[in-house]
Amino acid sequence: MSVFVAEHPQIYVEFEEVDIAAQMRKGHPQIPEGDAYITKLVKQHCQRLGRPVRVFDVGSGSGYFASKLVTRIPEIELIVNEDEPHVISKLQRRLGNTSAKIFDRPFIEWKEPVDIILSWGAHHHLPKNYLAHAKQVLRKDGVLILGDEFCPDYCDATHAARISSAEQIYIANGYILTNTAEVEAYQKEKYIPPIAHDLERRRQQALWIWYRYVVDYAMERNCLAVVIDELRATHDDLITNFGDEHKMSSLIAEQEFKLCGFQQLSKKSLGPVDAPQYQSFFVYELGI
Ligand SMILES: C[S@@+](CC[C@H](N)C(=O)[O-])C[C@H]1O[C@@H](n2cnc3c(N)ncnc32)[C@H](O)[C@@H]1O
Repeated sequence: MSVFVAEHPQIYVEFEEVDIAAQMRKGHPQIPEGDAYITKLVKQHCQRLGRPVRVFDVGSGSGYFASKLVTRIPEIELIVNEDEPHVISKLQRRLGNTSAKIFDRPFIEWKEPVDIILSWGAHHHLPKNYLAHAKQVLRKDGVLILGDEFCPDYCDATHAARISSAEQIYIANGYILTNTAEVEAYQKEKYIPPIAHDLERRRQQALWIWYRYVVDYAMERNCLAVVIDELRATHDDLITNFGDEHKMSSLIAEQEFKLCGFQQLSKKSLGPVDAPQYQSFFVYELGI
């Protein structure tokens, strides 16, 4: 995601030592609200479970949020997970003298049961199979708390119906395919149906409105590192087949949860209620 981690800090020498995760909490809309809301959910689930709780934070980045979480709820057993070597070293520095344990391998290699899985800002960076793996390691009464930056919604009724009846969500070079026939046509002839082209054009338009707002917000707060990182993210995300920065409608994620066998227990928007074009961050509670 654009947020939380500067992906090319070496280019912006001036910002090399900037703690971008901390800057994002000052200069990026909806992230501090997400931190507070997710912390509240973790507390509630600890009370509900009424036993020692193991929390697994997948894609912890440099651990900004995780370090606050373990300070606020010291009774949890917190495992922070990151697989990027240069990020792991930051994670070690930040969490080295806390009770949190670091799992420095890809999430798929974690095999122990957990009570709460956190995926905060990581969903659209993680490999497609991570949801299925989360389901495998989550205890039956556990919960996946998933918060992410999505593209504010851009589906009209036709697109929404296509997504919510999708047999599968297959991303073909950035275009969304929804059934076997579409996937076979793509695999044979690289064919992308017009409806998928239309959906992608809508995504790009909605993204532009969102990123303009994010960059203005950061500029008004004099957070230049955030501005620069978000301009890079805007560039990357407007490119249809740019894998790592591909934010989509939350409706697509919801269909993925359903297809994977998760039950959506709640959905919370962190954006302004009266401005759907700026409703990007959502937090879900998902059960099995
Ligand atoms: C945008 S960051 C999330 C930030 C963090 N959760 C926070 O609150 O500040 C997403 C992270 O997921 C990590 N990641 C991607 N694939 C992963 C995997 N398979 N296993 C573990 N971490 C992964 C990336 O290296 C990246 O640092």
